[in-house]
Amino acid sequence: MEKDIQEIMFSEEEIQKKVEELGKSIEKHYKNREKDLVVIGILKGANVFLGDLVRKMNIPLYIDFMAVSSYGQSTESSGVVKIVKDLDMEVENKDVLIVEDIIDTGLTLHYLTENLGTRKANSIKIVTLLNKEYRRKVEIPVDFVGFEIPDEFIVGYGIDYAEKYRNLPYIATLKREVYQ
Ligand code: PRP
Ligand code: MN
Ligand code: MG
Repeated sequence: MEKDIQEIMFSEEEIQKKVEELGKSIEKHYKNREKDLVVIGILKGANVFLGDLVRKMNIPLYIDFMAVSSYGQSTESSGVVKIVKDLDMEVENKDVLIVEDIIDTGLTLHYLTENLGTRKANSIKIVTLLNKEYRRKVEIPVDFVGFEIPDEFIVGYGIDYAEKYRNLPYIATLKREVYQ
């Protein structure tokens, strides 16, 4: 696997430090709230981040997942999203924290927040480990951001290329020959 890697952008240590910081500020935000907190991971990319993040949050919470897919073959999301796996839990009158690995155009989260908005959650907040703000096609109010990153093709820590590399403990760029 390492043979496909061009350069490490964030090491395992850098990621763990940032995840701990994020976990602590999120914990502080939700501490002593009377509503239930439901942490929602967007499959598959957010799975690794969510697993580390919730272990840094010393507060009661529920975990649930949603999986969505964009129609079409394009590597860029089309904005037309369909729910492949819906929540198991009801979020009505609960605080919702959506967990993403990366936000790019914002189209996935735009759809998801609109969709969750109809379910009468008490509040909806968003945490993403990585953010490409300048790539937005729609504005997304992100509450907690790990790293702002340049427009490079990256993998690892949940993020895939053609479904591979999600298990890398670091975030890295791929060699051009791998995807060209
Ligand atoms: C990636 C990433 C975000 C989304 C961001 O997921 O994990 O969910 O794209 O892109 P956007 O802001 O332009 O909508 P992907 O659709 O590749 O699915 P995956 O998480 O299963 O890899
Ligand atoms: Mn994803
Ligand atoms: Mg993907």
